[in-house]
This record gives sequence, C-alpha cells and structure tokens, in this order.
Amino acid sequence: MTSGRVLAIETSCDETAAAVVDGGRTVVSSVVSSQVDLHARYGGVVPELASRAHTELIVPVVTEALAGAGLDPQGRGERPVEAVAATVGPGLVGALLVGVSAAKALAMAWEVPFVGVNHLEGHLYASLLEDPDLEMPVAILLVSGGHTLLVSMEGPGRYEVVGRTRDDAAGEAFDKVARYLGLGYPGGPAIDRAARAGDPAAVALPRAWLEEGSLDFSFSGLKTAVVNHVRAHPEVATEDVAASFQRAVVDVLVAKALEAARRIGARGICLAGGVAANSELRERATAGGEAAGLRVFVPSRSMCTDNAAMIGAAGYFRLRGVGPSSLGTGAEPSLGMREPGATLG
Ligand code: KG4
Ligand code: ZN
Repeated sequence: MTSGRVLAIETSCDETAAAVVDGGRTVVSSVVSSQVDLHARYGGVVPELASRAHTELIVPVVTEALAGAGLDPQGRGERPVEAVAATVGPGLVGALLVGVSAAKALAMAWEVPFVGVNHLEGHLYASLLEDPDLEMPVAILLVSGGHTLLVSMEGPGRYEVVGRTRDDAAGEAFDKVARYLGLGYPGGPAIDRAARAGDPAAVALPRAWLEEGSLDFSFSGLKTAVVNHVRAHPEVATEDVAASFQRAVVDVLVAKALEAARRIGARGICLAGGVAANSELRERATAGGEAAGLRVFVPSRSMCTDNAAMIGAAGYFRLRGVGPSSLGTGAEPSLGMREPGATLG
C-alpha cells in the first residue's frame, strides 16, 4: 500500500472525475470527463441523463486515474491506495450515487477505508493543492453554480462559514442572465466572453450590500433588474448588459471577500468554485487583495471547476481528522456547510 495516497471520485453534477492525491496536497493524477455537450441542448443539467452518463464513464475514468498514478486496479493482494473518497453531497442524488457506490465497492475490494466528502469542503482545498505552502488563516470566496459562501479557513478541516447567499448562487445568476440574454449554456463563460466587448458602465444596476456589516449575498434582485432593463430598452447591446451585470456581481464579491479577510485577520484570500474561473473576478480579487497587503490565491481554472483532486485532498484530511465513513453512508443531496459559528466536523 502507498501510504498517504487517496483515490477520489466526484460525480455530484455533470462532471465524472477521479484523481489520486498524495498526502492531501500533491495531485498524482486527475481525470475530468465533462458532460457539458450532453446537457447544452437542454440549457441545463438533466439529472436523468447525468446519472446515465456517470454510469457509463465511471469505470474508464477511474481506470485512467489509477493508470495515470502508475497503479493497477486489478493488482491482486495489493492495496493501491490508503483510502477511497467520494463526494456524498450536495448534488444530484442519482449522480452522487454512482460515485459513492463505485468508491464503496473499491474500498471493500481493496479493504481500505471509505471516506465520504462534502463537495463544498472539497472546493476549499483548490488553493492548498496548487500552493502547498499556503499560510492560514485565509478567507475563501467559494462561488459555484449551487453555492456562494465566504469561509474562514484556519487549517485543514477547520473552517467557519462567515457569509452566504440568501437566494441565488453567483453561478446561478450568471446562468440565468445568460439564458435570458440568449448567450447559451453554461452561462458563466458566455457572459465572461461577451463582457469583454461591452461597457461595464453602460447599464446602471443595483449592488446588494444588504444591511450594514453583513457578509451575506443576494443576487435575485440584480437578475430581475437586468430583465427589467432589457424589457424597457430592447435596443441595448447584449455585450453592455453582460459587462454591467458582471461588474455588479464582481464589485460585491470582491468587497465582501476583502472585508471578511480584514475581520478574521487573514493572511490571504482564496477563490474557489466554478465562478472563480471568471476573468474579471480573478483580476479584481488579485488587485484588491494585493492593495490590502494580502496574499491572493487564484487557482487555475481547471482546479476551480468541479474535479476529484479537491475531493482527494478533503478526503485525506477528513480521514486523519475525523476518521473513515461508514459503508452505510449514502448520498446526501442537500448536505450544507454548517451554520455560522460552527466548524465542519
Ligand atoms: O463549481 P462548478 O463547476 O459546479 C458547481 O459545483 O456548481 O461551478 C459551475 C458554475 C456555473 O454556474 C458556471 O456558469 C460558472 O460556474 N462559471 C463561470 C465561469 N466559468 C464557470 N461563471 C462566471 N465566469 C466564468 N468564466
Ligand atoms: Zn462544485
């Protein structure tokens, strides 16, 4: 057995992914098979199609990840890894079950522990995987298609949620506005591209700062403001709307991430989740963080979007901090991060 190596599987949404991670910080191999093309014609992820595609892809993807790490999945009498981790939630139940079942089957066959991982916790490890010397505490802005969280991370396994969205997730707002503007799916990259050719000051849109001192977010009012503006001014250039919308989202995300870092005495700020692939967010967070004397960690785009390496890192630290999960653990589609004030066990 190679101590410290974890095989991780991620199937919570529309990516079938597997990775081998060493010591929670080194990616030995990572394979991501995206189903984006499969769902694009429907304008969103179709759960039934996602589960079916995961079922078809899981064996080849896991085999490729093991082979990439020089491990033989058929190796008799050998334990190729120390543990097998899989995302147990949040996500689509049918999709999650494919990864969880595969991980449990491998854990049983190899007689190693199974570790169930929270997908959101996984995203927090993106920066640590790319910068193993990351100095904590850090404020992490986790912005994905389903979640928007500001998290204070003091060390692996030690987090506190300090802000969250009260309605739509940031990525959901990008996807809905893109769909309304006819920019296609997935919406985030489409708005990012369109915004480059637009004027961010062209359309006056609201920023939801919420009550004084709040680190929470709200995006549904902004989405409605975009719709109302386009209805009233159908001649407006799509690029200008995209640029103005993106500016409004990024203004609030960056300001609140910097404020969170100040309050928790963070050494740095990190971006995580699919929306962290956004060009303007990456530039503004970098400039704002540096101006505030913080280290800024902006993971590569492929580490920001769903992958299994981040699940492997979270699984490794969970195994050491909390221990293995029961083989009776099932999928938990609405698993959340615990409420403010609590740490994630
Ligand atoms: O983390 P992720 O891959 O999956 C979830 O766990 O949700 O995030 C997907 C989200 C989608 O809403 C997508 O539109 C958004 O991330 N996204 C972006 C960009 N690339 C992906 N949003 C803004 N700009 C981008 N460049
Ligand atoms: Zn995600």
